[in-house]
Amino acid sequence: MFLSAKTPLLAVDIGSNSIKVGRLLGTPGKFELSNFGMMPLDPESVVEGVVQDEDHVVDALTRLVHAENVDTPYAVASVAGEAVMIKKIKVPMMSKEELEEFIPQEAEQYIPFDIDDVRIDFQILEGVSTMEEHEFEEEEDKQEILLVAVQNEIIDSRSNVLTAAGLKPCIIDLDVFAIVNAISISRNLQDMGSVALMDLGGAFTHLNILMDGVTSYTRDIPIGQDACTTQLMAKYEMEYRESESIKVGAIPEDANKEEIIDLIIESYEPILEELHKSFEFFSTTSNSQVERAFLCGGGAMIPGVDGLLSDRLGVPVEIFNPLEAVKLGARKFDPQSLSQMAPMATVALGLATRRFDYI
Ligand SMILES: Nc1ncnc2c1ncn2[C@@H]1O[C@H](COP(=O)(O)OP(=O)(O)OP(=O)(O)O)[C@@H](O)[C@H]1O
Ligand SMILES: [Mg+2]
Repeated sequence: MFLSAKTPLLAVDIGSNSIKVGRLLGTPGKFELSNFGMMPLDPESVVEGVVQDEDHVVDALTRLVHAENVDTPYAVASVAGEAVMIKKIKVPMMSKEELEEFIPQEAEQYIPFDIDDVRIDFQILEGVSTMEEHEFEEEEDKQEILLVAVQNEIIDSRSNVLTAAGLKPCIIDLDVFAIVNAISISRNLQDMGSVALMDLGGAFTHLNILMDGVTSYTRDIPIGQDACTTQLMAKYEMEYRESESIKVGAIPEDANKEEIIDLIIESYEPILEELHKSFEFFSTTSNSQVERAFLCGGGAMIPGVDGLLSDRLGVPVEIFNPLEAVKLGARKFDPQSLSQMAPMATVALGLATRRFDYI
């Protein structure tokens, strides 16, 4: 099969806790799920977004791809974490072509990595501006750009894993952008003002705050749901898998249920603190307040977590189901188990909306 701009790609989300693969056929407004599968990873095989045990991850991905019986090798994956920098900058007004030459020279001063070690991309932020009115007068000849820099090492590592599993990586995206694409399948983020998208993953809490549908502030907070797993293991001297199954609701009969639930709720505290700080930072730098939030990732599946976050952050919080406007394809899906794990599929399904373009 040849790759064209319409070929649906296989989306591969290599998280710290598990790999998810997904594939959407069709076009925006008419997406159909052709595949979705998950494979848990051994602890420490992916640490803070970086693949440590390549053999294990390649083996898990190979098995998953085989089980899904996917008929295309072309794939899209994502990266996150410390190797990624996203920053809003102001640059002189110029055309996209001129910017393509200008940005790589200009970027160095904003990037905390060696310029030779990163790949750079950018997006012109049209329509939304966080500039004050007086700034406008001073900076009439300036435009806002979203600058993205990703360390080559992490891109190469993702690509190598995919290639070793028999896939052909075509696009490497970012988790925080994939979440926007997943939500855009069913919602009009342009009409929602300031919205926080929060992905409660194993190692990270991925945050993207949008203004009128445009990324305004992003952060991969390096605290995730695995901290709770580790605490349960330490407190009750249990194995990793046992602790994981307690989190999904399998609390043993003889265990102190209330104490365990308290520990789980407590584990959200440091994350809430960081989210709160990020909301504050956003409001002081953008003249806007977060008005509502969407929640996804494994941490969104603890019953009552939406209420907890809503109370503490002071905004309405909705657990997001990326499949709400997606038709189920011909493959035999169990709609109930699919909708139960849907929040965890958000990054994979957002990646699956991507089509290869030749630019
Ligand atoms: N049903 C559930 N209820 C509660 N917690 C769950 C449930 N399912 C998974 N989790 C927890 O969610 C976390 C994994 O979430 P997710 O799959 O979104 O992470 P990841 O994408 O692998 O990691 P990251 O994005 O941080 O690299 C684990 O800590 C796991 O214990
Ligand atoms: Mg994730």
